[in-house]
Amino acid sequence: MHLHVANHPLITHKISVLRDVNTPSPVFRQLVEELVTLLAYEATRDVRVEEVDVQTPVALTKGVRLSHPRPIIVPILRAGLGMLEGMVKLLPTAEVGFLGIKRDEETLQPFTYANRLPDDLTGRQVYIIDPMLATGGTLIDSIDYVLSRGATEVTCVCLLGAPEGVEAVRAHVGDAKVSIVLGALDERLNEHGYIVPGLGDAGDRLYGTAAN
Ligand code: URA
Repeated sequence: MHLHVANHPLITHKISVLRDVNTPSPVFRQLVEELVTLLAYEATRDVRVEEVDVQTPVALTKGVRLSHPRPIIVPILRAGLGMLEGMVKLLPTAEVGFLGIKRDEETLQPFTYANRLPDDLTGRQVYIIDPMLATGGTLIDSIDYVLSRGATEVTCVCLLGAPEGVEAVRAHVGDAKVSIVLGALDERLNEHGYIVPGLGDAGDRLYGTAAN
């Protein structure tokens, strides 16, 4: 598994504002979108392209375009939805599927409650987006699911990660072609499964508590 932690002052600046308990939802949503676009730039470093001829006003030259099958973006509901706009801005021709996975508040174990993904993901590059890599349970379930459907490369884009979650994913995926791109790697998880220092509940910060 490959781990990339963004080390860029603009990303750290935006994450610092996200962490601030006084940052209101509209600003939080806007910053998440901006951050995802910056992280997606790194996450799509290996996106598959094919060569094409391009006629400029001056000469014929070679360029590239995204190759088929198109990459697929999978936001994990609900907080992953807040990252979707930023991701499709960078990959406008990607397909989008949805996975609804929720943590049981007591056991912290994830369970799947919604699935809108193609059955056949053979050969697809999949970008899973979920703001918080905490215990790793949700991400492990999502990765297992897309790999079991034939995906060959999985890149997970998360705003924050806990070392415990990163190690859990690493231990689970073995030799599978899985990458994680994080905005920041935080200190630890607390006893409630929250990332410390973190930013609290990403879904609540994005959408308020009504959708819980
Ligand atoms: N999910 C969140 O939204 N926040 C955390 O800190 C951990 C999991």
